[in-house]
Amino acid sequence: MLSIVVLISGTGSNLKALLEACDNPLYPAKVLAVGADRAAEGLEHAELFDKTTFVVQPGGFASKDEWAEVLASNIEIHQPDLIVLAGFMRVLPKSFVDRYYPRIINLHPSLLPKFPGAHAVRDALAAGAGETGSTIHIVDAGVDTGPVISQQSMAIPAGISEHELHERIKEIEKQQLVKTIEAIASDELKLEEVSS
Ligand code: GRF
Repeated sequence: MLSIVVLISGTGSNLKALLEACDNPLYPAKVLAVGADRAAEGLEHAELFDKTTFVVQPGGFASKDEWAEVLASNIEIHQPDLIVLAGFMRVLPKSFVDRYYPRIINLHPSLLPKFPGAHAVRDALAAGAGETGSTIHIVDAGVDTGPVISQQSMAIPAGISEHELHERIKEIEKQQLVKTIEAIASDELKLEEVSS
């Protein structure tokens, strides 16, 4: 059974999809705890599923490394096999990434390396792209630069709003996240091989 700590910043719709998948006794992974960098709305999903939650806000720490150290100690209590960033909107410092690499993955709403960063959906629309999609990748010390694990594409419908396009991408992301974690848990997908 693959054990996971999920980190979020927002609404947590991907977290919810994963928690629902883990509720099936045949699913080979379990969420141990959910952390956030703010009082994120999505923590409610964790509470509904009786998961431990923790919030470590960067304000109040002298440096990003100190913040990440406290974040890591909250994670370490649970000794997870995998850390999943599901809408966690902070770049983690190298000290944190080195500690967990390659057992830390991120979900991103574009076909990386296209449109990295916090406004991927907006940037794809602004560029007039005909397609976009979602990427799951191993987290390295860059911004959305780590080795790609899986990608799914979709056409961008003409005239679609940023919000609506992001919602449609999230529908793809949820299934992709659940399937990818299942593949990691069953050893069908080896993160050490993807990262080498
Ligand atoms: C997702 O689109 C993810 O790719 C991005 O942030 C969004 C999180 O959405 N990094 P939610 O909080 O899971 O609803």
